[in-house]
Amino acid sequence: MIRLCVFDAYGTLFDVDAAARESGIAPENWPRLSADWRRKQLEYTWLRSVAGAHVDFWQITQDALDWALEAQGLAAEGLRAELLALYRRLGVFGEVPQVLAQLCEQGMPLAILSNGSRPMLEEAVRAARLEGQFAALLSVDEVEVYKPARAVYDLVGQHFGTAPGEVLFVSANGWDICAGAAYGFRTLWLNRAGLPMDHLHGAPEAEMRSMQDLPRFIREL
Ligand code: LAC
Repeated sequence: MIRLCVFDAYGTLFDVDAAARESGIAPENWPRLSADWRRKQLEYTWLRSVAGAHVDFWQITQDALDWALEAQGLAAEGLRAELLALYRRLGVFGEVPQVLAQLCEQGMPLAILSNGSRPMLEEAVRAARLEGQFAALLSVDEVEVYKPARAVYDLVGQHFGTAPGEVLFVSANGWDICAGAAYGFRTLWLNRAGLPMDHLHGAPEAEMRSMQDLPRFIREL
């Protein structure tokens, strides 16, 4: 039986492309900037975890942005500040508010488990007017290592007293959902980009392109 539904944050609930898209960057330039920013952000989480050189996700986000701006010769200070301010208030994907409200109505407790620092998560949730929907915002701040370290997935059971098999984990990041499945969570891969499955340890139980059908999926589990 599923007792809890846990969401990844960035790319799953929050649209990580929104900052670059809504900035003043030319339409032909923002997609590459956004993709470089996200790729470097994730790489830095993995590299720092392996090296035991933790800094919080806000620092990682700034370091990755600096690399992405330099790669395109877009190093203006005003643009950097604008992009970072937008990142603190990323919008959610269109179906998210309604689906979360439906799940709450179904009586399903919800939580976030994210690389994001606690202040980043609180600000993003507040900006999206989703306070009150989540029983907890669980941040890697508590363990100072990034996903997919098992210590991060352990935060769920430590907070809620749940066994992994009682938790449905929803992530749009293929590597995150594979690791969550290997950990023992029930898993739904939100394959928003229509990507091939990662070839990693663990494979998700189910796959969807959007969260639209999540309330029905949970009812039928
Ligand atoms: C997170 C990243 C992986 O929110 O998207 O944890």
